[in-house]
Amino acid sequence: MKTSEDKFKITYKGKEIELPVYQGTQGPDVVDIARLYKETGLFTYDPGYRSTASCKSDITYIDGNAGILQYRGYPIDQLAKNGNFMETCYLLLQGELPTKAQYDEFEIDIMKHSMLHEQLIKFYSGFRRDAHPMAILVGVFGALSSFYHTDLDIDDPISRNQSTVRMLAKMPTIAAMAYRYSLGRTFVTPKGDMSYAGNFLRMCFANPMMPYEQDEVLTRAMDRIFILHADHEQNASTSTVRLASSSGANPYACVAAGVVSLWGPAHGGANEAALNMLKEIGTVDRIPHYIERAKNKEDSFRLMGFGHRVYKNYDPRAKVMQETAHEVLKHKGIDDPLLDVAIELERVALEDDYFVQRKLYPNVDFYSGITLRAMGFPSSMFTVMFAIARTVGWVSHWREGITEPDQSIGRPRQIYMGPTERDYTPMSERG
Ligand code: CMC
Repeated sequence: MKTSEDKFKITYKGKEIELPVYQGTQGPDVVDIARLYKETGLFTYDPGYRSTASCKSDITYIDGNAGILQYRGYPIDQLAKNGNFMETCYLLLQGELPTKAQYDEFEIDIMKHSMLHEQLIKFYSGFRRDAHPMAILVGVFGALSSFYHTDLDIDDPISRNQSTVRMLAKMPTIAAMAYRYSLGRTFVTPKGDMSYAGNFLRMCFANPMMPYEQDEVLTRAMDRIFILHADHEQNASTSTVRLASSSGANPYACVAAGVVSLWGPAHGGANEAALNMLKEIGTVDRIPHYIERAKNKEDSFRLMGFGHRVYKNYDPRAKVMQETAHEVLKHKGIDDPLLDVAIELERVALEDDYFVQRKLYPNVDFYSGITLRAMGFPSSMFTVMFAIARTVGWVSHWREGITEPDQSIGRPRQIYMGPTERDYTPMSERG
């Protein structure tokens, strides 16, 4: 990391201190405030981390103003159009695209670990049939920590690779079983000669009594959706995984914590919320009413699938997702009125001063719900699919975080606003 010749100087209570300024390979310069407290007694306050870089990372680069997203330097649209999810996983984890031999070895390794331990499968029967699949995912994935702890050594690269492969391999199987459990359908075990995305679709939709025919267009769409969601630098769920793992915790449990954070409607839950919103709007003539609601500060309604903490331009993933939505709907011969609502809602919002001034554009979740619904998934599964895709991002950040030389436990500070010291009063004396 380069240190800029420019220094950041502050004067506090008559004392001037100089703080170093770093330059990444791309993106804004960063002030190093690590010495600030020691030298001035000051903390910084940045709720939501709007101006805070929590770590150094080589994995993903976003320029929100320009609408750029790159994995290890490769633009997202190039990967989504020309690559596949398995090579994207390898790229995120290892830093380079794989050779054919590396790719084959990696894919076989993942395939070999995609089955679940029989004892783990017993966990499903403890859940209510109407449990949200994200709740099941949190529980069952977290339970992996009780299966793979005896041979776990997070300081050993071989053990880390083993955990990596297991987490990637088992996540789609766990997710597909969560889906089938909600329907009361027999679980379908993974199949060795199918792609990651193809296998997942088969585990969700196959009828074990009938031959299963893979649909190439839907498999490609699923694979692309996985690529688009694979990583997004220090978002809430990834930061959760990094923070949880900074204490040296079990990686399966840390990833389960990431699933929890992803579930919220402001993050991965937005795809489910966006589709529910489109259903509620229902028809194009009702759009103006909902636009007014989204602008009204007294109303908690927001346009789901719109706006982003980092993108102040069109989310580059949303462009690819919109194309994928059209492809899937055309292939399935579906004329979904919700697609018309979405296109018109986008058009109206992008011409409205409120959204223009705040730089609110459609994000990846605006069109993903329509696509996944056309593929046959209920909306409760949308965030689950986001979790499958993001597992590789979480795991890549876990690996990077715990091997970082200046890694230490994440421990933010606070502005204390509670009572000052006071004496305990016995209960009998309290009014
Ligand atoms: N609808 C209406 N107004 C909005 C919206 C929206 N979707 N998003 C932001 N605003 C307004 C917000 O009220 C604020 O207005 P003002 O300046 O007058 O107070 C202004 O825009 C800035 O918003 P913010 O809340 O400061 O932005 P943020 O960076 O804290 O929030 C966000 C980002 C994604 C949580 C938010 O845009 C949002 O809630 N969007 C809807 C949920 C959604 O689609 N989330 C998926 C994100 S992409 C998938 C992922 O990576 O997880």
